[in-house]
Amino acid sequence: MALAEFLAELDSLLRDATAAFGAASDAAALEAARVEFLGARSGRLKAVQKGLGLVDKSDKPAAGKRFNEVKQAIESVYAAGGARISGQARVGVVQKEKFDPTVPGVGLRLGRLHPITRTIDELKEIMGRLGFTAADGPEVEDPRHNFDALNIPPEHPARDPLENFYLVQGGEGRGTGDKGKASEIVDHPSEIIHQKSAPPAPRLPSPFLLRSQTSTVQIRVMETQPPPVRIISCGRVYRPDTADATHYPMFHQMEGLLVDRNVTMADLKSMLRLFARSAFASDVHIRFRPSFFPFTEPSVEVDMSWQDGWIEMGGAGMVDPNVLRGVGYDPEEFSGFAFGLGIERICARRHGITDIRELYKNDVRFLHQF
Ligand code: FA5
Repeated sequence: MALAEFLAELDSLLRDATAAFGAASDAAALEAARVEFLGARSGRLKAVQKGLGLVDKSDKPAAGKRFNEVKQAIESVYAAGGARISGQARVGVVQKEKFDPTVPGVGLRLGRLHPITRTIDELKEIMGRLGFTAADGPEVEDPRHNFDALNIPPEHPARDPLENFYLVQGGEGRGTGDKGKASEIVDHPSEIIHQKSAPPAPRLPSPFLLRSQTSTVQIRVMETQPPPVRIISCGRVYRPDTADATHYPMFHQMEGLLVDRNVTMADLKSMLRLFARSAFASDVHIRFRPSFFPFTEPSVEVDMSWQDGWIEMGGAGMVDPNVLRGVGYDPEEFSGFAFGLGIERICARRHGITDIRELYKNDVRFLHQF
C-alpha cells in the first residue's frame, strides 16, 4: 500500500472520530463512538492498523509515527468527550435539585455551658491560682456531716424540718417511681423486690437530707487527711427558701477551707480580697460584718461591692476549735479559716443579672447571652 493512501485513511479516520466524539451528547452515544473507533476487536482504528503491514518497508517508519499520532489524538477526543458529558450530568443533577450554591448554609445551633457551670469553672481556676485544690462531697448527707461535726447541736433551729429537705424511708411509692412521693432511701436493692409483694411500708422520717450547705465537705476532707488543708468545694445545696431575686431553693456554694499553723483572720480577709479582685475587678470592695455560725469563731458575713451597692456574698470565719478537735486535729497547733460564698450571686453580679431565678427558667434566649 502506498504511504499517501495510508496517511489519507488515517486523516479521514481522525476527522470522523473527532466529529463522532464531539457530537456524542450522552454516555451511551460516547460509548457507541468508542466501540466504533477504538473497539479492540472491530474498531476502525484497529482496521486501519492492519493496513500498516501493507505499507512499503521503506515507508513504514513514517507510517507508524503518524499512526501513533492519530491514535493518541483519537484517544484524547474520546477523553474530552467523557469529561464534557460527566460535567453536563453534574449540572443536570444540580438543576434538577434546584440547588443554589450561593445561598448561605443553615448554621449549626451549637450549645454552650450554663452560666453557673462556667462560673464554677472560673472560680476553680482563680482559687487554683491561690493554691486551693477542688474537693467534692455528696448532695445527700447524713446528720453527722451536715450538723454534728459542724458543731450544730441536736436542738439547733438549723436542723428543723422546715429549714431542710429531709428524705423519707418506706411509703407507698417505694420502687414504683411515684412522683408524688418524697425521695426515698433504699438500703439494699433486694428490699425493693421484697417490698413489691409486701403491704405498703409506712413512710418513716429519715435522718438523711439534701445538704443545706457545702460546709459538709470541710468535715469530709479533714476526716480523710491530716493538716495542712487548702481546698475549695463547689456544688449544689438545697433549702426550702422562697424563690426571689437573690434566693432559690436549689443553689450553689463555693466552700473554702484552709488549715495550717498560725492562720489568722487577716489571712482570710486578704485571700477573699484577692479572690474578689480576680472574680470581679480591682476596684471591688469587701467588708466583714459580725455574724454567727456554729462552726466558726469568730464568724462574719462577707459583703462585696463593685460599681454599685453592697451585696452579701457569703459567710466566713475562723474554724471553731470544736470542729478541729472533732476531726482529730489539735487546735493548739493548727488554726484555719473557712468561707462559703453563693455562686448564683457571684454569677449574677459578674454578668449584671438582676434576678437569679432567670438562671433556672431554661429560656435559651436568656442563657444564650452569656
Ligand atoms: C452558709 O451557708 C455557711 N455555710 C457559710 C460559711 C461557710 C460560714 C464556712 C462560715 C464558714 P449562709 O447561709 O449565709 O452561710 O449562705 C452563704 C451564702 O449562700 C449567702 O451569703 C448567699 O450568697 C448564698 N445563699 C444562701 N441562701 C441562698 C438561696 N436560697 N439562694 C441563693 N443563694 C443563697
